Amino acid sequence: MTSKRYAQIVGWGKYVPTQVLTNDDLAKMVDTSDDWIRARTGIVERRIADPRETTSTMSIKAARAALQVADVAPERLDLIIVTTATPDYLFPATACLVQDALGARRAGAFDLLAGCSGFVYGLGVGSQLIISGAYENVLVIGAETLSRIMDWTDRNTCVLFGDGAGALLLQASDAPGGVLSFTLGADGSGGDLLMLPGGGSRHPASAETVAQKLHYARMNGREVFRFATRIMGQAAKEAIQAAELKIDDVDLFIPHQANIRIIQSAAKHLGLPMDKVFVNLDRYGNTSCASIPIAFCEAIEEERIKPGDHLVLVSFGAGLTWASAVVQWHVPLPAPRLPGWKRLLRRVRYCWARLVSRLRRTYRKFSSWWGKAVGRIRGNNNG
Ligand code: COA
Repeated sequence: MTSKRYAQIVGWGKYVPTQVLTNDDLAKMVDTSDDWIRARTGIVERRIADPRETTSTMSIKAARAALQVADVAPERLDLIIVTTATPDYLFPATACLVQDALGARRAGAFDLLAGCSGFVYGLGVGSQLIISGAYENVLVIGAETLSRIMDWTDRNTCVLFGDGAGALLLQASDAPGGVLSFTLGADGSGGDLLMLPGGGSRHPASAETVAQKLHYARMNGREVFRFATRIMGQAAKEAIQAAELKIDDVDLFIPHQANIRIIQSAAKHLGLPMDKVFVNLDRYGNTSCASIPIAFCEAIEEERIKPGDHLVLVSFGAGLTWASAVVQWHVPLPAPRLPGWKRLLRRVRYCWARLVSRLRRTYRKFSSWWGKAVGRIRGNNNG
């Protein structure tokens, strides 16, 4: 008889840009104030990527940190899922850029788009691929460069969002725990409430779409707020029930960090005291898919998680979508720090991966040039 498999979280990592944009900075750009933003959202400041940073570069940093914590080599990854609404390109997938930079030779890679719920969607998909027996190691990344799709003259949106990345590494285990349950949901009738209209097949990028500002995120904040306060508690309850747990069994609630009033309303719906709720949106704003994995990493850093704990993750976002999951923590904390030589070896590996990638590109160019040259010579001889 084969033993039951579980998908444990064995690695975690985050990256946030160094540049901080405060509410006071924003008040110099649009008609808003620190008081308004704090009172209506709970946000104090957010991080903004520098011009060289993109969703893939931040993903790579978070991914490397997660692999280092778990002491897992990139070659052991079976799958990389990057959840994002702001990929580097429409294609290739950002996950493929991450796969190349890590040197994860055996890994499949794809992007997953489910609005801000993307990360929990990714966790659901990744955990099931492990529990089914298909894969051993799946890296789920949430990363966003939302500052690139903000209209910095629109106070309805630009005060809310920030940039960053987080990654969790899922691994097959026969020890009970890990991702115990998840629920995914969608209501496409609310798709117009939060969207990026331009750049897709409906409104391909053109001078006109740019003039109409269709390349910026648009939102009906009031309606999204109403939806979020209704769905967050409900979705969390469903995942708790699916894991056959009770509210009292929840040790830490890690919600999508969009608005403190939405978080408080979800906690109230569940009957959870705020000391069981993890909040860091004051420092980062809403980082969409990156919000839950960054919060997860910080909960570990702040020693809010210990083995045996039941954690509830819940998110909502564009689509409209929602998702929730229950995780039972298993890994002893704090994670042991890798010895210096192992960290050095990792750095060498990543340099090697970069070199191999360059060689492959050069080889492709050369073989294409060679093929054409041979074709020309043959053509000349025949002629
Ligand atoms: N600064 C100052 N005033 C602002 C403002 C800003 N940044 N943004 C809006 N206002 C004004 C509005 O124009 C409105 O003025 P009016 O009464 O004269 O028309 C007033 O503040 C109230 O607007 P309202 O939209 O009712 O505010 P709110 O309390 O609903 O808060 C949000 C607005 C956007 C913070 C809130 O609706 C929200 O968080 N929605 C969810 C958004 C979200 O989470 N999106 C991401 C999903 S993943």
